[in-house]
Amino acid sequence: NYGWPLVSWGFDYSGRAMSDMQDGPDFVDPVAVWSPSRAPGDLMEYSGDRFPQWRGDFFASELMGHVLRRLRVQDGKVVQEEALLTDLRERIRSAAMGPDGYIYVITDSAKGRLLRLRPGKPDKAESGRVAKPYALPSGGNMVEDFARRGVYQEKYTQVLFAFKYDEAKAKALFGQNCSSCHSAGSFTTGEIGPDLNGVAKRRSGSLPGFAYSAALRDSKTAVQWDHDSLVAFISNPQSYYPGTKMMTAPIDDLETLLQITAFLEKTEPGKAGR
Ligand code: HEC
Repeated sequence: NYGWPLVSWGFDYSGRAMSDMQDGPDFVDPVAVWSPSRAPGDLMEYSGDRFPQWRGDFFASELMGHVLRRLRVQDGKVVQEEALLTDLRERIRSAAMGPDGYIYVITDSAKGRLLRLRPGKPDKAESGRVAKPYALPSGGNMVEDFARRGVYQEKYTQVLFAFKYDEAKAKALFGQNCSSCHSAGSFTTGEIGPDLNGVAKRRSGSLPGFAYSAALRDSKTAVQWDHDSLVAFISNPQSYYPGTKMMTAPIDDLETLLQITAFLEKTEPGKAGR
C-alpha cells in the first residue's frame, strides 16, 4: 500500500499539495519522486535481451515530461536516470516490452503512433518509417503548433507554455493578494508578514527580525525558496507548511500564481527588510 492519497508527494494542477503528509508508518515509501509531477503513464521493468545493458532497468512513460524515462535502481535507490525520445515532443502514454524483446511505446495525440525502439541504425528500406524529431516552430507558438498537430495538452501545461511575465499584471496581482500583509522593498508596505524582497534567494523563515511561526523556522522543514516551492506555498500555505501564520485562502489560478511568483523572483534582496 503506497498510501495515495493519504500520503503523497504530489501537487495537483493548481500547484497545491495533495496531502500534508509525505509518508506514514503503514505505507511503503516510493523509490523515486518527481515533483512537480511528470504525469507518468505507466512503468515497466525491462527483462529482454535486445538491450542487454538495460536489463533490470525501469522505464516510465511520461505524458507531461514528453519523454520515455529510464531508471536504474540499485539497493532501493535510483542511481541513473536517462530521458529518451526527447526530440519527439510527444506525450508518451505507455511503454511495454514485446515478446521479441524490443520496447514499444504509444504516443498520445490525435495522430498518436505506435513506435518500436530498436538498437542500431535503421535499414535504408525502412528510413521513411523512422520517427522524425519535432521541429520547433521558428518564432511560432508551441501551444498553437501542438493544437495543429492534435497533441492534446492539459490546461495546466498550456498555461505553463503560454506563460509570459507581465510586470504590470504581476504587480497588480501582488497588490490585490499580498500587499495587505507584505512589503516588497519599497513597492508595498504591508507589515503583518516578512518583507518579500528577494525572497526567492533566501531560506524560508530566515529574514532577521521577523517573528516567524515554528513551522517556518524549524530547520528540519525549512527550504531554500525556489520557483516550485514558492508556487506550492503561495497556492496553499497551510497545506505546504502546516501551522504557518500565513492565513490566506488557497489560490487555484495558475496564471495568478506564476505571475506573482515571477514578480517575487525578480525582486532583489538589499533594500532592508523590517
Ligand atoms: C493575511 C496576511 C498575509 C497575506 C494576505 C499574505 N501573507 Fe505571506 N505571510 C504572512 C505571514 C504572517 C507570514 C509568516 C508565516 C510564518 O511565520 O509562518 C508569511 C510568509 C510568507 C512567505 C515566506 C517568507 C519567508 O521569509 O520565508 C512567503 C513567500 C509569502 N508569505 C508570500 C506571500 C504571497 C506571495 C502572498 C500573496 C499571494 C502572501 N504571502 C499573502 C501573511 C500573509
